Amino acid sequence: MLRTVAVTPFSDQKPGTSGLRKKVAVFQQPHYAETFIQAVFDEVGEARKGATLVIGGDGRFLNREVIGRAVRMAAANGYGRVLVGQGGILSTPAASHLIRLNKAAGGLILSASHNPGGPNGDFGIKYNIANGGPAPEAFTAAVHARSQALAEYRILDAAEIDLDRLGDTRLSDTVVQVVDPVADYAALMETLFDFDAIRAWREAGGRFVFDAMHAVTGPYATEIFERRLGFADCVSNGVPLEDFGGGHPDPNLIHAKALHDRLMGPGAPDLGAASDGDGDRNLIIGRGRFVNPSDSLAILAANAHLAPGYCDGIKGIARSMPTSRAADRVAEALGVELHETPTGWKFFGNLLDAGRVTLCGEESAGTGSDHVREKDGLWAILLWLNILAARRQSVDEIVREHWATYGRNYHGRHDYEGLDTEVAEGLVADLRAGLASLPGRSIDGVTVTAADDFAYHDPIDGSVSRHQGIRIDLAGGSRVVFRLSGTGTSGATLRMYLERYEPPEGDLDLDQVKALAPVVRLANELAGIAARTGRAEPDVVT
Ligand code: G1P
Ligand code: ZN
Repeated sequence: MLRTVAVTPFSDQKPGTSGLRKKVAVFQQPHYAETFIQAVFDEVGEARKGATLVIGGDGRFLNREVIGRAVRMAAANGYGRVLVGQGGILSTPAASHLIRLNKAAGGLILSASHNPGGPNGDFGIKYNIANGGPAPEAFTAAVHARSQALAEYRILDAAEIDLDRLGDTRLSDTVVQVVDPVADYAALMETLFDFDAIRAWREAGGRFVFDAMHAVTGPYATEIFERRLGFADCVSNGVPLEDFGGGHPDPNLIHAKALHDRLMGPGAPDLGAASDGDGDRNLIIGRGRFVNPSDSLAILAANAHLAPGYCDGIKGIARSMPTSRAADRVAEALGVELHETPTGWKFFGNLLDAGRVTLCGEESAGTGSDHVREKDGLWAILLWLNILAARRQSVDEIVREHWATYGRNYHGRHDYEGLDTEVAEGLVADLRAGLASLPGRSIDGVTVTAADDFAYHDPIDGSVSRHQGIRIDLAGGSRVVFRLSGTGTSGATLRMYLERYEPPEGDLDLDQVKALAPVVRLANELAGIAARTGRAEPDVVT
């Protein structure tokens, strides 16, 4: 039976960099998730009638509950078919693939990515459009506006679907299909990479380990790395848990420290990798060599032709603005387009759809290609494995050869978390106000060559996205970027990105922290971070 529930709008349903992300307690308010989902369905409009909707999430606390309600709402809102991952599980890239494969109108992905889960953690809802990618800004802005004017939502009163049982159930006029979350995704990976070559590398002694961080990639990694590629017992923390085992499913050197230590220690395997809560990020560590995500994008771009899916070469590369410019040099050498976009995967969608770029990446450990419309953690790891199998060199050798060819872009990020929102916004506003006077000025003996507030002009649909980060270029190829996070759930997070370029004949082997120290000093002076925030040190350095 169809039921209409009257609601009063919630004032805080504005999606950020990656969907609506809030504390679990916020999502536990009666009608909170339903209001947002109804706003999405209203914005999809008539296109949902009889159409297919994909629903899945990263398995975190509230995942099953919200999926249950979303399924009954989809049935009440006229969708013809709803595809749900078994157990409510779908990694973000696998959801993107299912949307494309099934010509769905879109999908709801329930995740707060790398943020902690559990009753005291975070939850999130993201809507992806028919191309499989995150809804563009115009869509999310319209959803927000709609959520503020919503008077009611529609839901079907029906028994809960058994999310653990594969197969079809009818809910009124809607068919709900519980599908294997892994099978189609694994099949796609087999079309892109040379699984035989990777198996041969393993048989020749190649060793690989993967940390699923008790998040969504466990079942995917077990199927692909252990069963199909034969790396016995290579997956650790492979069972998705509602609170990620109490951990923080962010694959960086802080939260995946055990993996890092193993790769730096005696008898280390050739490659260690990890992914995040929803499976779209990747961490790549070779024996004795951490690969910076910006470098990883550049190296993957330079070597992608070694994998069957990219053997004809790549059409172009896109990177988010704060990502280092290492990939720019590869694009130049290959003679392909390079696009600089705002932070967030949604800005890559148009370029991928138009066939202008093949690879995309962000400094925040996100890399992907035109095979889906999301970043894809396991994809990046498989491409690295394919390259190792083809080149038969160590990760360290491959990285060093890359620097010797293109030079090295040292890159780092300092995060100041939980800042007072007014203080953080004031800091960025003042930087913005002072931009015009910066070029030509010398700070700490270094000259500012250019400074702006990054605005992106989408070359495909002509849309303009302003205020995407303060960008300050320095003589000699160094750079500082400031922006506020759009994914945090408490206070404001200031991100400061630092970059320094060394040409092939320059200092390629410096310690990253030491190499960036002069840029850090200058950036702090420019923004007055300590004085304004009272923080002497960043909370996280990556
Ligand atoms: C962060 C990252 C960004 C990424 C996003 C979603 O967003 O910086 O690159 O696309 O998470 O994974 P931010 O918090 O900086 O807005
Ligand atoms: Zn993620």
